[in-house]
Amino acid sequence: MYRTHTCGELRLANVGQEVTLSGWVQRVRDLGAMSFVDLRDRYGITQLVVDETSDSSIREVVNQLGREFVIQATGVVRERSSKNDKIPTGSVEIALTKVNILNKAELPPFTIEDETDGGDEIRMKYRYLDLRRNPVRENLVLRSKMAHAVRSYLNDKEFIETETPVLIKSTPEGARDFVVPSRMNEGQFYALPQSPQVFKQLLMVSGFDRYYQIVKCFRDEDLRADRQPEFTQIDCEMSFVEQEDILNLFEGMTTDLFKEIKGVDLEEFVRMPYSEAMSRYGSDKPDIRFEMLIEDITSTVQGQNFKVFDESEYVGAIVVKGAASFTRKKLDKLTDYVKRPQVGAKGMVYVKCNEDGSFKSSVDKFYDAEQLARWADVANASAGDLILVLSGDKAHTLNALGELRLEVARQEGLMDKDTFKPLWVVDFPLLEWDEDSKRYHAMHHPFTSPKKEDYDLLESDPGAVRANAYDLVINGVEIGGGSVRIYDKDLQRKMFDLLGFTPEEAQAQFGFLMDAFKYGAPPHAGIAFGFDRLVSMFAGLDTIRDVIAFPKNNSGRDVMIDSPSPIADAQLEELNLALTLEDKE
Ligand code: AMO
Repeated sequence: MYRTHTCGELRLANVGQEVTLSGWVQRVRDLGAMSFVDLRDRYGITQLVVDETSDSSIREVVNQLGREFVIQATGVVRERSSKNDKIPTGSVEIALTKVNILNKAELPPFTIEDETDGGDEIRMKYRYLDLRRNPVRENLVLRSKMAHAVRSYLNDKEFIETETPVLIKSTPEGARDFVVPSRMNEGQFYALPQSPQVFKQLLMVSGFDRYYQIVKCFRDEDLRADRQPEFTQIDCEMSFVEQEDILNLFEGMTTDLFKEIKGVDLEEFVRMPYSEAMSRYGSDKPDIRFEMLIEDITSTVQGQNFKVFDESEYVGAIVVKGAASFTRKKLDKLTDYVKRPQVGAKGMVYVKCNEDGSFKSSVDKFYDAEQLARWADVANASAGDLILVLSGDKAHTLNALGELRLEVARQEGLMDKDTFKPLWVVDFPLLEWDEDSKRYHAMHHPFTSPKKEDYDLLESDPGAVRANAYDLVINGVEIGGGSVRIYDKDLQRKMFDLLGFTPEEAQAQFGFLMDAFKYGAPPHAGIAFGFDRLVSMFAGLDTIRDVIAFPKNNSGRDVMIDSPSPIADAQLEELNLALTLEDKE
């Protein structure tokens, strides 16, 4: 038997017992007459002791120990004379009677401590060592607990966990596919699923009624802190439900998770139309932990000979409470921020609403106090507040105001990590116009149903049609998204037509789905949560990398196994991918 107990288990109640532990040597302290070994496993750390009473053979083994050696230690539990109240096992130690080196270890490239000396790069290369560290391991323990809680919530509600294939044909979710060449079908490729979307809909046609899967999805897109090329969804689909049923059931799941795992009571989720999210927050994923809503002040500020505003389609403002005292330097920094190419504003106008009722603005040449007072009135600013104004074309300006709002919140510390404000963003547009390809794209995906009341617009004004689509947003992060689906083959055909597919193309790519819809498809709807994002939010982290056991870096590489990598010529040949000599030339 390698162990009778774990390294996190022993307490005063065990004093006098003979025990055996196995684990890794965290550190050895040699005090001459006595030596202490901190032995670590995933459950904790236990102190081992050898002293002058110990057998000399034990002292010899202990003298050989180095960091991260794997050992088995037997001894008697005794009360410590100087206790360590920082760890649960800190009242006891083990007087060694036997110690056995199970495996030696080279000196690790960084310290296996909560605060390590290893940089990002090296820790990714030796991820298996990084995972020995408490903070990293704890994130994965949290992940496991959350997956368990999700499963039990959904199992209790009669959902059936079903696996769907990984070698599939491309699903149109909007990102690029990862493809896998088929050896047996020359010149043909599988695609890895961007999501199990079509399969879960087919399972509804099969009568499964309630499906879920905690499932890997693959998207070849540019990476960011909240995006990995392979990531995990909690993917769900239900039959005979409407939007409200989905929102309620998954509001329940989210609320239960927060309560059970974090001990947090969430308030009822706000429901906000997409149009409001865009016009008041400049974002389809508004962070509603703080105010600073965007006000349209176009008509108030135009027509007073300030060319910049007069020539703008839209002028919008946010009010920063109590910020009239912002220094010139701070305002310049914000101006620089909005002028960054990623934000794209040309400049920023400010108005300080001074405590004494006077105004100081960057456009004093063009607007007098009376006019500025009207701005303040329209923007709901009071004495002591600061008004920040951007202008330009409407869509870009709203987006820039949204970014500015977030930047001010970051600088002013308004993004409290322990406050959670969820909301459903609803009524998304069904389609979005793509200037490059001069055609509509599905905003969510092509299986999303239009709102019944907007059916008439499908012909006359497709861009104005709203969808039965919804996103779950928490603290400005898109945690999940889904929609009520089209289940009528003719409407589905119409949708493909709007998206620019010829009937032949639609049949070739989605014939199987439209065929399935001929055989009694029930009304159905679903949602998928980004599981990595949810876990990283629960862990209070800014990147999903830290909640994935073996993540990719920002260039999509696994630096530990060194992938992607070239493959042998023989393998290429077998896959019919080898370049002939002529190709190479
Ligand atoms: P969607 O594309 O919105 O919907 O994806 C659902 C959720 O998955 C998360 N997510 C990601 N997380 C990490 N890395 C990524 N690259 C990444 N991409 C997406 C987000 C997102 O909200 N089939 C539909 C769902 C449905 O209609 O039922 C779908 O995949 O949190």
